[in-house]
Amino acid sequence: SNILRVGVAGLGTVGAGTLRLLQTHADRLAERAGRRLVVTAVSARDRRRDRGIDLSGVRWYQDAAALAADPEVDVVVELIGGSEGVARALVEAAIARGKPVVTANKALLAIHGTALAQAAEAAGVPIAFEAAVAGGIPIIKGLREGLAGNAVSRVYGILNGTCNYILTTMRREQREFGEVLAEAQRLGYAEADPSFDVDGIDTAHKLAVLTATAFGTQVDFEHVHVEGIRHVSALDIAYADELGFRIKLLGIARRTEHGIEQRVHPCMVPVATPIANVEGVFNAVVAEGDFVGRVVMEGRGAGAGPTASAVVADLVDIARNRAVPTFGRPSALLAPPDPAPMERHRGCYYIR
Ligand code: HSE
Repeated sequence: SNILRVGVAGLGTVGAGTLRLLQTHADRLAERAGRRLVVTAVSARDRRRDRGIDLSGVRWYQDAAALAADPEVDVVVELIGGSEGVARALVEAAIARGKPVVTANKALLAIHGTALAQAAEAAGVPIAFEAAVAGGIPIIKGLREGLAGNAVSRVYGILNGTCNYILTTMRREQREFGEVLAEAQRLGYAEADPSFDVDGIDTAHKLAVLTATAFGTQVDFEHVHVEGIRHVSALDIAYADELGFRIKLLGIARRTEHGIEQRVHPCMVPVATPIANVEGVFNAVVAEGDFVGRVVMEGRGAGAGPTASAVVADLVDIARNRAVPTFGRPSALLAPPDPAPMERHRGCYYIR
């Protein structure tokens, strides 16, 4: 057909942004995708809320899973969030009906990614998830397609905009963690439960997905070593400054002789490296491949526009039948349980 009929579940910041992008660039996208991308159905709790988007002629579902059953929906976009409940049921229902899925849901993929990928593969449908890691940065496609010719030795980055905003503001304004957190929440980048951000869980979810993509393994969230940023003080940041470092919360995955190590914790990043100067809500990912060397990508990791940008890129792939298998094969390489000791300074690890 010359139309790809899209069902969007979840009309929060990202859902509304996705509809806006699809409307704004309808003609451009039709050219790139070879078909028109038309939203035929949506689901959200509150039908009447004004989202500044035109929903006339679009079917409405209260129950997200029902969206997957709509015969006029070819592809399901899941923007609800959360690893269980409605989001999981919707993705499973879509796969069961043989419909491709686009999701921004890092928690769902981190915890059920391997099982969902197996189900999707058995059903012959893709699950696309560019938006799940580092928002608008095309790091999933970058790693999977762009670096396909490399053995990756390490991939790491700033994967949570809320933490980066907090750490950046603490440094610039010499303020303490608690105050700045409240401000970050008001800006709307934080997860529904901000402890997911500041305790490193959101970064760990994204890292688990990134690792599976970079190393061609299954997703292994359970073995990610996680420490957050609550203990970082304005004084720690000032000392780090004097020593020539910025404190950043990083997610790091690297190949070791025992397997792939995944760790999330605050790091002392030398100021002369590119990611040291990535500030505010921006994210950055560094990948090291044997033939390419070091690749760095920086961009907005959260918010309506950047996340919609990634969701729509996946829709274009699906319209073009370009989507590829979700994650790698089971691998003996995964997850030594304890990360190797690293040199620390007041709870922050040095990274080079
Ligand atoms: N809470 C996340 C962040 C949103 O701050 O980066 C994007 O996943």
